[in-house]
Amino acid sequence: MKVVVSIGGSVLAPNLEPDRVAEYAATLQTLDEAGHTLGAVVGGGPTARDYIESARELGANEIELDQLGIAVTRLNGRLLIAALDDRAAPTPAESYESGREAIRRGDIPVLGGIVAAQTTDAVAAAFAEYVDADLLVYATSVAGVYDDDPKEDPEATRFDHLTASELVDIIAGMEMAAGSNAPVDLLAAKVIERAGIPTVVLDGTDPERIRAAVADREFDGTEIVPEA
Ligand code: UTP
Repeated sequence: MKVVVSIGGSVLAPNLEPDRVAEYAATLQTLDEAGHTLGAVVGGGPTARDYIESARELGANEIELDQLGIAVTRLNGRLLIAALDDRAAPTPAESYESGREAIRRGDIPVLGGIVAAQTTDAVAAAFAEYVDADLLVYATSVAGVYDDDPKEDPEATRFDHLTASELVDIIAGMEMAAGSNAPVDLLAAKVIERAGIPTVVLDGTDPERIRAAVADREFDGTEIVPEA
């Protein structure tokens, strides 16, 4: 199976702890050895937010802040590459094309951000579409897609299954609410809908859940099913 795994920066490298990064690399290696074709997309997490906050104070504009964010996602990508050793392409792919070329060579591409004004959620969806992935996995810090931010509202309920167009409607509603934090952003949801990619959003703080979702198709999270 061809799988794109999106690993949020807050999940992969909340504090740059090497053992954590090694666990995600080991999970990808296990799936690789089981014969799956993989691509990984890595977010910027708290380190990106720290840089962005500081540069905003210094007067950087939003595009400059995005460029800073992209740089940090690629730094996190290099951490994962270091842990993956020879199985990964040696540098983070800076375009979808070079990521796809890495897959063709038999390497595991690691992507960070690609262009300003989006997030790695959207990069993962676009890359999954581009390489015709069978499955897209979002390993995030929440256990799926909820009707409200579960970190803010303890009453929030999780959706176990959604169609892609339902996902778009829910995320659009959440993004209208100031300060809300959707597990997948609206652009990503639109690409998932357009491409019809089977997608799973799960709590990725334990990398074993990523392995189980891919290898056993067993997961506790939200499954997004393409429309017939
Ligand atoms: P992330 O995708 O990591 O943001 O990109 P996030 O979703 O808030 O963080 P985690 O990792 O899931 O916790 C970090 C920042 O990098 C820029 C944006 O500014 C984004 O907020 N970025 C990222 C881009 O401009 N383009 C990209 O393609 C990716």
